Amino acid sequence: MQKTAMPVYTGRMSHIDKLIADMTLAEKIGQMTMTASDYAVTGPVITPVSEDSIRAGVIGNMLNLYGAEHVQRIQKIAVEESRLHIPLLLGYDVIHGHRTVFPIPLAEAGMFDPAAWEATARAAAQEATADGLHLAFSPMLDVARDPRWGRIAEGPGEDPFLGAAIARAKVRGYQNLSLSDVGAIAACAKHYVGYGAVTAGREYASTDMSAGMLEEVYLPPFRAAVEAGVASVMPAFTDLNGVPMTANRALLRGTLRGDMGFDGVIVSDYNAIAELINHGVADDLAEAAALALKAGVDIDMMADAYRRGLPVALERGLASMADIDDAVRRVLVLKERLDLFADPYRRGRTPDTADALARRRALARDVAARALVLLKNRNNALPLGRGRLAVIGPLADAAGEMRGPWWGAGRPEDCVSVLTGLRQAGLDFRFAPGVQIEGADASHIAEAEALCDEVDAVLLCLGEAATMSGEAASRAHLGLPGVQQQLADAVLARAKGKPVIVLLFSGRPLVVPELAAGADALVAAWFPGSEAGNAIADVLTGRASPSGKTPISWPRAMGQIPVFFGQRPSGRPFNPNDHYTSHYSDVDNAPLFPFGHGLTYGAFEIASLRVTDEGATVDVANTGARAAQETLFLFTRQTRPGVTRPVLELKGFAKIALEPSARGTVTIPLPASTGPRTVFVGPSADPARLLSLAL
Ligand code: GLC
Repeated sequence: MQKTAMPVYTGRMSHIDKLIADMTLAEKIGQMTMTASDYAVTGPVITPVSEDSIRAGVIGNMLNLYGAEHVQRIQKIAVEESRLHIPLLLGYDVIHGHRTVFPIPLAEAGMFDPAAWEATARAAAQEATADGLHLAFSPMLDVARDPRWGRIAEGPGEDPFLGAAIARAKVRGYQNLSLSDVGAIAACAKHYVGYGAVTAGREYASTDMSAGMLEEVYLPPFRAAVEAGVASVMPAFTDLNGVPMTANRALLRGTLRGDMGFDGVIVSDYNAIAELINHGVADDLAEAAALALKAGVDIDMMADAYRRGLPVALERGLASMADIDDAVRRVLVLKERLDLFADPYRRGRTPDTADALARRRALARDVAARALVLLKNRNNALPLGRGRLAVIGPLADAAGEMRGPWWGAGRPEDCVSVLTGLRQAGLDFRFAPGVQIEGADASHIAEAEALCDEVDAVLLCLGEAATMSGEAASRAHLGLPGVQQQLADAVLARAKGKPVIVLLFSGRPLVVPELAAGADALVAAWFPGSEAGNAIADVLTGRASPSGKTPISWPRAMGQIPVFFGQRPSGRPFNPNDHYTSHYSDVDNAPLFPFGHGLTYGAFEIASLRVTDEGATVDVANTGARAAQETLFLFTRQTRPGVTRPVLELKGFAKIALEPSARGTVTIPLPASTGPRTVFVGPSADPARLLSLAL
């Protein structure tokens, strides 16, 4: 594993130690302060930045400011007009692209393609650094199994192994081999740790779990990010077992810095230090600041708690200058690693080029097509046949919504809607929105429904608005918003006998069993990003073959949540012939669509599972009529004396592309292990589709 290089300061006092020795307390705390510009808003703008505070050296970092011209102007004040000429560190939420928006992270996770994950991070870093940015608050690595939580859209899905693979790829992509590369941006593994387990899927709610669950499910992606050399980590807003992460000395100084060896910068989440007062663990900003500092938080994002609280905490003996100096040193070392002292204006000096933008748009189109998940395809309704299409639904002509949550610097006018993509692909269609995304107005359903009489097939474009997932977007009902289900029911009834293809746009699995049953084809489009319409047209016409797999189980009912494949077995595992076994009386235990489910335009069969020194190997055949790419998963089930293990644990995945009637083999490395285990290989976590071998 190639770790991003960390320069070593040896010999005479480094210029950083000299700087620290020269600094006043206000200047030291300035380097521990990050304040938002009001250029882009990702939270309540509490204390707007004043240029005087930058000139005075009492703000050393900013977020939400980008654009070469703006950045150069502000950086000039810090570098040329302040006493110590320390460059600003500039951060932004580059979550799934910057100006070119890639599919939301949950969609990208379903590609099961580390090269693609790294490529989009590298492309995002190129655009973000061209805009003068130094730090991306990404990757978000919160494993989540509760789709009520809107931030599931930003993360790696339900599995820690997948989350760890994404972590490694994203850190490599953002940070390159050296942070001093002009196209490299510091990554930030967030939100450490357990945020995806919020009570009842409600945003910012408490999290509570066993030490085993923390170690096996929520920590692995962060361990992987640290091993890959991630430059920074952001603690979660939430408390874990009653201790707010922003003040969690055991998990920050203990596990993260001590056990994992993380030596980078810990930056708080937005106003999180001040919110320790709401958590009830601090009475005022001085106590809150002292708790965060002692826990190891180096930068206070947006709470102004360090600036207003640390001087008082020092007077009260609640904080030490040594802790402050350590924090300042880590911030200055990060700026040094980014080469900011040597050339603070380098990022943003070289303008982007049309060729580079074209390459990123092509990447966005390819990735978006490969992130789509074909959940159902009855009678091969897809790819589309010839003839006229009715395009119905509120997400068909919604370019801006295609960006999904955390769209960064992506503009609606730069996004390709479904209609535009179909038009550019030369398809013949009629369009009617029918209803809005939200709201109760059903008065236009009839005119939309009537289109079904004039066409050969129907494309329904349904789902969420971009802001219905992401931060502060928990939902207690996960059906189609507004009266979209009413529209879908009317169209499905009217279009009888004609293929009805549903494109479902969302930041999470939706609970749509009726829609899934009625549709002939169902595509989880998630939010595909800037090239949405072109990518969708590529897949619908067969120019591209769908290969995405869902990285999250789809509940068939709200009452199933959380439903995920890595559950422990129960002493009474479900048995249809025995009432007294683990089941619901009103719904099947199995999800509507299992982790890893995703159809292709081929037809894959696997056989002959065997295990050799190279790993688990199966024979694969494409018995379909079209070329396609399959992803196969390796799971194990271990039995351990005295401790139950999940019925399936993901240990690997691999892809194979085959022409029609072609055959091949797939070998997935099998991690060493002690004790008996069973190995499984298959196209998803569906037990009925797994080959198994007891070892
Ligand atoms: C937000 C988010 C965090 C983001 C930060 C800066 O509240 O929790 O993910 O990076 O604030 O926008």
